[in-house]
Amino acid sequence: MEFTYRCMDCRTRYPGDTIRYLCPACASKTPSGEFISGLLEVENTLPDPHEARSFSSFSPYPLPDTRAFPAGNTPLVKPLELSSRYHFSRLFFKLDSLNPSGSFKDRASLMVAAQALHHGEQAVVLASTGNAGSAMACAGAAFGLQVVLFVPESAPANKLMQSVLYGAQVVPIEGTYDEAFRLSIEWTQAFGGVNRNTAYNPMTVEGKKSVSIELWEQFGSRIPDVVYIPVGDGVIFSGVYKGFRDLVDAGLTDRLPALVCVQSELSDAISRAWKTGAPLALSEASTLADSISVASPAGGRYALRGLIDSGGWATVVSDTAILDAQRELSRDAGIFAEPAAAAAWAGLRQDRQRLADTFGDDARIAVLITGTGFKDMGVFSSSVTMPKAIPPTLEAAEERLQK
Ligand SMILES: Cc1ncc(COP(=O)(O)O)c(C=O)c1O
Repeated sequence: MEFTYRCMDCRTRYPGDTIRYLCPACASKTPSGEFISGLLEVENTLPDPHEARSFSSFSPYPLPDTRAFPAGNTPLVKPLELSSRYHFSRLFFKLDSLNPSGSFKDRASLMVAAQALHHGEQAVVLASTGNAGSAMACAGAAFGLQVVLFVPESAPANKLMQSVLYGAQVVPIEGTYDEAFRLSIEWTQAFGGVNRNTAYNPMTVEGKKSVSIELWEQFGSRIPDVVYIPVGDGVIFSGVYKGFRDLVDAGLTDRLPALVCVQSELSDAISRAWKTGAPLALSEASTLADSISVASPAGGRYALRGLIDSGGWATVVSDTAILDAQRELSRDAGIFAEPAAAAAWAGLRQDRQRLADTFGDDARIAVLITGTGFKDMGVFSSSVTMPKAIPPTLEAAEERLQK
């Protein structure tokens, strides 16, 4: 498919025949310190509405054989118990925790793998503290791409272990995520390969938009009324927005769903900018939901655009509410989500009245479950006690189960 790049700041267009990251005219300006300027977005030639079948009709690059790495096409689950408890008859969970590496980030990694293969690149380089790294490492293993991953040495060991096992070259650095980000770009400039840094490579948004096309298909060629999205850097949110925008621009629907940005109150840069109308500013980030703990969101400005354009809103939840939501998802829907993913459900629980008042109890609602609970088992160490073993006798079992 033909596409062009467009600068999000000065709106200049660039041809899509080579790999590009930032607008050369705007990249050197950093209007607000840590925030990248000159990010590019992709403008695709959109499919004829009668021919649009699936995400591949909207993809800027031909997708490689996805049997090797079946990212996306995740189930839309109807949680029977929670649906009746919260009085929403058309409540659904989009189970992206079932992607090959266990998170939504596989969608972006599939697209970056497609980009690398299309341009004959052998390596993908990135900085990540978690799921993006393991997702790319997984896609690299599936498609024979070398993956170089720069991480701050303080990054959570669980997620890094996955990347090491997938065969990525994991390089911990004595520094912060921002320094790993910068180093990964310097490495790409010096030694080649595709850089997959979130937001920096516009294909990360393009890959993530696949979820919106799937939701449209799964709701019977209709869009949901509301989508709940857990937000850190704002790139998943931007991808969801871009996917629905493509559907509108292709004439397949006439409106956007309300996109709801859910953040932890301990990492709320985007929500704060949306509420106050002030430019994005650096904020503290200390939530236990590590995947959404972000002080300077790389995709923040695009996400804000999506929030406003879609008529959505930002909901901020406490870490306690995130852990409660995580327990409820496991216990009452059989869905094991990492804290960042459970944040989306925590947001909906908090917005329950607002949702009912605005959309009614038959609203079509999609909640993105972006990562599996196996990603962060440490979070349960203080709240879950494993039962002690009993002798293998009926008496002991009766005593334990109080029969
Ligand atoms: C499981 C999970 N949920 C939500 C997010 C938030 O995505 P973004 O940083 O693009 O806002 C991430 C990002 O790492 C994630 O891994």
